[in-house]
Amino acid sequence: MSRLSTEHLLGIKYITENDIHTLLDTAASFKEVINRPIKKVPSLRDVTVANVFFENSTRTRLSFELAEKRLSADVVNFSASGSSVSKGETLTDTVNNILAMKVDMVVMRHQNPGACVFLANELKKYPKSAHARVVNAGDGTHEHPTQALLDAFSIRNHFGRIEGLNVLIVGDIMHSRVALSNIYCLQKLGANVKLCGPATLIPRHIETLGVEVEYDLHKALQWCDVANVLRIQLERQDIKYFPSLREYAMQYGINREVLNRLDKQITIMHPGPINRGVELDGDIADSEHSIILEQVENGVAVRMAVLYCLASVKE
Ligand code: CP
Repeated sequence: MSRLSTEHLLGIKYITENDIHTLLDTAASFKEVINRPIKKVPSLRDVTVANVFFENSTRTRLSFELAEKRLSADVVNFSASGSSVSKGETLTDTVNNILAMKVDMVVMRHQNPGACVFLANELKKYPKSAHARVVNAGDGTHEHPTQALLDAFSIRNHFGRIEGLNVLIVGDIMHSRVALSNIYCLQKLGANVKLCGPATLIPRHIETLGVEVEYDLHKALQWCDVANVLRIQLERQDIKYFPSLREYAMQYGINREVLNRLDKQITIMHPGPINRGVELDGDIADSEHSIILEQVENGVAVRMAVLYCLASVKE
């Protein structure tokens, strides 16, 4: 069975290059499995996984649930709305109560950065919960490790390699957990990473992570092989970072005219959900340039790999 160097997946920052290769190679095997007429394998039979979502999700939640079911795990789903969280129960109590029902793995999305790291540390204090594995399904503006893994997997599938590729991340870098996880993941795999967006949406000192920043969209797109386009995260913006969505779209929106000005073809990615007509025009999202739905398809195989590899981590 595959082995990782870690018992939880809390962020790409905390795993090794070797772990990433193990996960991507395992995902390749599972991609083959889920394209068979019988898509289910017994790998996680008798393993129970709780999907604990304190924040909205479409892709990640469905993708994890499908991954768990394809691996024959038992699955329970928890949403903060309608739960006892509204009565004042703490995160640790909520999860310890779920784990007391003999749950083995917790896949958690939470609005607070660091919530998954906090939870993994807390669970160690409780002997009845210390066995549990924690998987970060997105924690505030911190990390979204499975998104970065499925992005890397999709790039590798499309180009046949990751090392040496020029990958541009465009948009609201400041409020994006996808950006940070992608930076860590792509750099560990040897890609060159550049960021582009309005200065107000680029965190100060981000260059210390080894990335370059280009504020001119045309120059940035001209440089890259693949552009990963990010959504403007209005729900995380407490002040105005640019005058209007229309102005943002005019400066940083990717549309047919912007791509026609390039003297090469580039590949377009987006983690979803897309704000069509803001960061990306609908006809480009649906065009031959885009691998957006391949990303979604690959997400199931990548999440199967994460669950499988963590379930078989060396004690
Ligand atoms: N990409 C992503 O995390 O999408 P959801 O918020 O729908 O899960």
